[in-house]
Parts: sequence; C-alpha cells; structure tokens
Amino acid sequence: MTNFASLGLSSELLRSLERAGYQQPTPIQSQAIPPALAGRNVIGCAATGTGKTAAFMLPLIERAAGRKGTSALVLAPTRELAQQIAEYVDTFGPAHGVRGAVVVGGLGMGPQAAALREKRHLIVATPGRLIDHLDQKNVDLSSIETLVLDEADRMLDMGFRPQLERILSRLPRRRQTLLFSATMAGEVAQFARRYVPDPVQVEIHRSGTTAERAEQRVFKVERHEKAPLLLALLHRDEETTLVFVRTKHRADKIFRFLENAGISATRLHGDRSQSQRRHSLDGFKSGKYRVLVATDVAARGIDVEEIGHVINFDLPGEPEDYVHRIGRTARNAASGRATSFAEPDDRDELLAIEKLIGWQLPREAVPREDPVFVAEMERRKAQERDPGIHGGRTRAQLEVQRERAQAPAQQKAAPRGAAPHRGGRPGAGAGQQPPRGRRSAARGAGRRPGAARSR
Ligand SMILES: Nc1ncnc2c1ncn2[C@@H]1O[C@H](COP(=O)(O)OP(=O)(O)OP(=O)(O)O)[C@@H](O)[C@H]1O
Ligand SMILES: [Mg+2]
Repeated sequence: MTNFASLGLSSELLRSLERAGYQQPTPIQSQAIPPALAGRNVIGCAATGTGKTAAFMLPLIERAAGRKGTSALVLAPTRELAQQIAEYVDTFGPAHGVRGAVVVGGLGMGPQAAALREKRHLIVATPGRLIDHLDQKNVDLSSIETLVLDEADRMLDMGFRPQLERILSRLPRRRQTLLFSATMAGEVAQFARRYVPDPVQVEIHRSGTTAERAEQRVFKVERHEKAPLLLALLHRDEETTLVFVRTKHRADKIFRFLENAGISATRLHGDRSQSQRRHSLDGFKSGKYRVLVATDVAARGIDVEEIGHVINFDLPGEPEDYVHRIGRTARNAASGRATSFAEPDDRDELLAIEKLIGWQLPREAVPREDPVFVAEMERRKAQERDPGIHGGRTRAQLEVQRERAQAPAQQKAAPRGAAPHRGGRPGAGAGQQPPRGRRSAARGAGRRPGAARSR
C-alpha cells in the first residue's frame, strides 16, 4: 500500500498532512500526485468523495513552494466549491509560504483585486468573476504554469465554455493542465485533444460510477404525492438531508413547505445573496439546520460531513448530475442513502441515469399508508377545498397525533415528532439537531482542511 512519503512530497508537506489527519493517500492521490508533481498533464477520474481535491492541490502547493509570483490557476463551477478548494491552501500552504487568492462572484471586487495584485502563488476562481478582474486589468495570467479544471466536464459544457475560452486565451500556451471529475462526459475528450497533450489518464473509477457506500433507491410517485412523501421520509429518521429540486423557485417553495411542517430547513440557490448562501451552507454544516433544499448549485464538489441522505425531489436534467448530487453523501469512508422521486413523465430521465451508472435502481413502494403521508395528503385535499384552513391542522393530522399518543409502541415504526402542520411553530420533533458523529466514528481520520475553522 502506498503512503504519502512514497509520492515524492516534501517532508514539510508530509508534516502538514499528518497534522490534517491524512494517514494514507486515496487511490486517485497515489496515482495522480506523482505525475502532477513531475509537471505532466493529468486527467483524473474517480468517484465522488474520494479525495480528488488533495490530488491536485498537494502538487500545486509543492510546486509553488519557495517561488515567487502566481504559478497556478484553479477553476471551479461554483463560489462555494472555489472557497472550499481554497481552504486547502489555508491548511497546507502556510508551512511552505504558499498563499492563495480566492476570486468568486457575490463578494466585493476590492479585496480580491488587492489579493491578486499581491501576486499570490495560487488563484482559485469561478470563471465569471475572474473575467471581471481580467477586464479591469487587476490580474495578469501570463505567469501561470498550471491550470486545474475541477469538475472538468461541467467547466467544459456549454454554460462555461465561452468564459473558459476567454480565460484560456490569456494563459501561456505551454503549461500543465489538470482535469478532474467523477464524470467525464461531453466535451472533455475533445478539449483534451486540443489543449491537453500527452496526458496521464488516471481512471480509478469508470466515469459515472456512483459513491460506493450510497444506498440508492427510487420511488415512482405521482407529482402531487412528492411533498407528502418527502415529509414522510424526513419523519422516518433524523439524518442530515440534502434535497435537490429543479429550479430556484421550487427550492423556495419546498423550503417554505418544510419550515411550515416544523422541519429545520434552509435553502441554497443562485438567487440568494452570497451572505445568505454562506449562512445556509454554514448552518447546514454545523447542524443548525437539518435539511438543505438546493438546486444543482450544490450538486458538485461540496464536501459536508455527515450528510446521511440525499433526496432528488426532482430528477436532475443531466444524468451526470445524478452521480454528483448523490455523491454529497457517502463520502470518504462514510455511508449514506440516496433517494430519487420519479414521476410518470420522468421515464426517459430515469433510463438515462440508469444507463450512465450501469445498473437498474431498486424501486421502493410509496408508503401510502404512512400516517404522515396520509395526513399531508389529507391536509392538501382540505386546503384545496378550503384555501383558508392552512393555518390550522387538519382533522387527519390531529387524528394521527391522537393515535400516537394512545399507542406509543407504534411510534417505533412511525415517524418522529408531530404530524405535519402549518403555522410555523415547530412541533415536538421540529428543529431537532441531527445526531452528529454517528457516521464519523466509522470514518477515516482525515477531515476536510479548514473544517475546524469553518464549523
Ligand atoms: N488521504 C486522505 N485521508 C483522509 N481523508 C481524506 C484524504 N483525502 C481526502 N480526504 C477527505 O475526503 C473528503 C472528500 O474529498 P474531496 O472533496 O476531495 O472529494 P472529491 O473526490 O473531490 O469528491 P467530488 O467528486 O464530490 O468533488 C474530504 O473531506 C477530504 O478532506
Ligand atoms: Mg471534488
């Protein structure tokens, strides 16, 4: 078995790794770090949560040590991911005098421009904001020796391609390029042929492989049953849960629905301000909120310990996003559950997902007898009949509660807490902190760099 010392890393970096609790390199790290250190181009494909970030950040930091000027640029698709990657510089950089500048949208240009003018060793950026700085002549990329595209396939898809082309035109032609992702669909091969000569291909897992310890299932469900089913599932355990929806508007709607049902929830999507986004993600990480309702802005790369359950309330538009979304659970030796809701109209999407991952997802029957499910269906029906009632509980909900009070033995199978209700005041189970640390006992010693600070 390889250890970090055999990968060609300096003794200073080895000490930093030890301090961070990294005992052994993961397979992608063992195979990608030596060629990246040697200056080779690398295309690295490995499942979600298997340590790709350190696989490119450690060589970048090692190569920048003791040098002057900006030598590397890391591009990532979202602000949160760029900030998370930059935490690796905070953790592993200082011992080697390596500093980084984080350049993301939604925050003031001034401090970023100042950091860029200092010509720190590494820039970690989202493309749009980096272009703003290029336009304002705050940054010169001509000294860049290494370009990293994390989530490479996403960075090369139609959404980012024009921005990326502009950035590429400002980089030296001769450079090292590192591409990493758990999926390598679409434009990656074509881009690699043009811009990434003679790469070392490290494929630990076939593109599209889902997280090994994520237990996956699908509910075939009618559209109007999705919210009741969500509530019923959330009442069955106390797991920290990430709920993915299709649009920002739906994220707001489902968030409000959960809040009204007394579930401790927050939301993350592109129409929220950066401080709101930060508040939500930090609150979700720390356990302040049990549920995060998010769009695909949270699908890629985000590393939150202890997410026990990912629920695809809506199936993703692209099958690759299924792999990334459910990869928010079962990371780094942890286990987790991934549940998807498929409406009758979603047949093609479901087939595309199963084609990509290479197997058929187990179907589970919608628990139409579940008291929480039944009560929420009833509440909705009653609300349709009389839109004025939504402040109060329905008779069905009250009945469920009464039944539970009379038959405590049944509660084991039944959900925790009160029946769903509206009106904002959390019920008995509401606002509870999820049990934290249950899964982490089984985990490797390593922690995401910076985790201690950010929590
Ligand atoms: N060698 C290691 N020892 C212990 N923990 C590690 C090691 N390498 C990485 N980790 C931890 O594993 C977690 C997942 O790593 P990372 O975020 O890099 O995964 P990833 O492969 O980039 O996943 P994704 O495809 O979802 O972006 C992080 O918390 C990281 O700190
Ligand atoms: Mg990653």
